[in-house]
Amino acid sequence: MKTCNFAAALLAVAPAAVAGWSWAQGKSINFTSVPGYFVQDDEATDPTGFDYAAVNFGLINRTYPTDKRLTAAKNKTQWQRFEAFVKDLNSGCHRKANVQYKVLFIGRHGEGWHNAAESFYGTPAWNCYWAELDGNGTAAYKANAYFKDRYETQKMPYFQSYYTSPLSRCTVTANLTFADIHLPAEHPFIPTVKEGFREGISIHTCDRRSNKTYISHMFPTYKFEPGFSETDQLWRATEEETDAALAQRAKAVLDDVFRTDKNTWISITAHSGIAGALLAALNHRPFSLSTGQIIPVLVKAEAVDLRPTPTVQPYEPSATCRAPPVTSNASQGCVCASTTAALPRATTGEP
Ligand SMILES: *[C@@H]1O[C@H](CO)[C@@H](O)[C@H](O)[C@H]1NC(C)=O
Ligand SMILES: *[C@@H]1O[C@H](CO)[C@@H](O)[C@H](O)[C@H]1NC(C)=O
Ligand SMILES: *[C@@H]1O[C@H](CO)[C@@H](O)[C@H](O)[C@H]1NC(C)=O
Ligand SMILES: *[C@@H]1O[C@H](CO)[C@@H](O)[C@H](O)[C@H]1NC(C)=O
Ligand SMILES: *[C@@H]1O[C@H](CO)[C@@H](O)[C@H](O)[C@H]1NC(C)=O
Ligand SMILES: *[C@@H]1O[C@H](CO)[C@@H](O)[C@H](O)[C@H]1NC(C)=O
Ligand SMILES: *[C@@H]1O[C@H](CO)[C@@H](O)[C@H](O)[C@H]1NC(C)=O
Repeated sequence: MKTCNFAAALLAVAPAAVAGWSWAQGKSINFTSVPGYFVQDDEATDPTGFDYAAVNFGLINRTYPTDKRLTAAKNKTQWQRFEAFVKDLNSGCHRKANVQYKVLFIGRHGEGWHNAAESFYGTPAWNCYWAELDGNGTAAYKANAYFKDRYETQKMPYFQSYYTSPLSRCTVTANLTFADIHLPAEHPFIPTVKEGFREGISIHTCDRRSNKTYISHMFPTYKFEPGFSETDQLWRATEEETDAALAQRAKAVLDDVFRTDKNTWISITAHSGIAGALLAALNHRPFSLSTGQIIPVLVKAEAVDLRPTPTVQPYEPSATCRAPPVTSNASQGCVCASTTAALPRATTGEP
């Protein structure tokens, strides 16, 4: 049967997110990160110090079964051949309605965003996590330069959908990474702000998000997922999200993306904690991301019989000051006024 035209598939213009498209309704979704395409899922690859920009995002140099059907396959780049392969997984002759594949690029925010956030939250509170930053403001610019290079020299496919955590360090990183790239008209940079991609919710104000009005004022072109609330309904001053709740949220936000977004090539700008939970939900091996790092995953999603979602404890108490901190510094983190120190620990951290 010669009805599958792979050369045409490669050239076909990807559809923009189709309003109302839905998949796996009334089903549960089983995710697998498909091994053999990116070095990051190989146990032999050490995540410590791994740099996507040294190895073409980790895309393995290999052949694909679809190569032989590509016109002038020898002249195609690894990314072009991989794109044709993935396209075939989703639309080829062997496609199953209960299975879909996506390529997710999960990025951890970079720096270059703290000025905006500091002016928003105020210096003492900001310092409670600012002091812990690793990285020096170059990560988002590095990603920006690397994407430009990959698009130009490697014909890497453009993202069809973008998502970002609502927290400033991500909305800003997404902007710095993508906003000035010359993208074709059918692949505009219009990220959707999605609550489920925010960081594990600690008591620190760095995990409290801006209101919707403020985000849309900063980034007028960004879209919001349906139901995105004006103010932060999830952050709590004295309780933090449990690990079990974070894991469940990560699975739920991925389910939502796979249920509602027809597109294949997807960029997610998020944080270290939620990225770890996303990888776990995708059944990828642990691969911790340092600031500004980006990990691609080829995901197979299979609609399976509905499974109940277990009930988990959503929040647990956390150390905090009972009132705004007096100040903060690198050696001590948050410094509570002595009369308000509720608990001995007020850790810093900038996930
Ligand atoms: C989900 O996928 C895994 C392989 O990744 C498989 O072992 C498991 O049986 C699947 N579960 C269901 C309910 O299909
Ligand atoms: C694939 O080959 C290219 C060119 O030799 C090299 O730059 C790249 O690092 C290789 N990719 C991996 C994942 O080893
Ligand atoms: C492949 O690229 C080379 C060099 O750019 C060119 O000379 C050749 O015609 C190309 N082959 C095909 C089949 O397109
Ligand atoms: C910033 O970080 C990069 C990468 O880690 C490093 O190469 C560079 O020297 C750093 N620059 C400064 C001014 O610290
Ligand atoms: C990116 O940020 C700049 C500076 O804040 C802003 O002018 C621009 O509208 C933003 N672009 C997008 C696409 O977010
Ligand atoms: C949204 O946040 C901005 C910045 O902090 C603030 O000025 C504004 O009053 C807030 N709006 C609402 C409706 O809370
Ligand atoms: C940090 O703040 C505490 C409390 O104000 C102070 O005693 C300490 O000297 C400060 N440390 C540094 C390095 O500034």
